[in-house]
Amino acid sequence: MERRAFLYWVGVGTLASSLPVAIAACSADSDSTISTSSSPDTAQSPAQSSPAVQNGYATVGTVQTLDQSGSIQAKDFAAGPLLVVRNPSDKTKLVAVNATCTHKGCLVDWNAKEQLFVCPCHASKFKSDSSVAQGPADKPLATFAVKTEGDSVLVKAS
Ligand code: FES
Repeated sequence: MERRAFLYWVGVGTLASSLPVAIAACSADSDSTISTSSSPDTAQSPAQSSPAVQNGYATVGTVQTLDQSGSIQAKDFAAGPLLVVRNPSDKTKLVAVNATCTHKGCLVDWNAKEQLFVCPCHASKFKSDSSVAQGPADKPLATFAVKTEGDSVLVKAS
């Protein structure tokens, strides 16, 4: 093979071998375009999880959801993990507690059958007014002011 022909084929080979790299570079740009276009969605998510606050009250859910599931939980609520239930002794009223157990800090659940907040860690139980029904916890759960406006459930974060 002549030297000129050899150099020609080396040049073609170099171009051909760099083509996949160029395509991959274009694909990387496409991906960044996709992630850029999805950024507004990502930006909306925190807004959706951070409810609007008016007069210290934040919307944490709907009455419909509360009645369907028996409780509203918001572990990322600004003032601490939140649990909202209907007051068992007056179903027209709601109860909102900080779900952090006062014993060692596990998160309590609402037991609708017992009508008590129950801690899964060491079995402390709290009445719907947040007072201790059964230890080892010896302090009541912290409570929040709660109200409804239309179908919205609002809890005061401070
Ligand atoms: Fe709740 Fe111990 S952390 S009973």
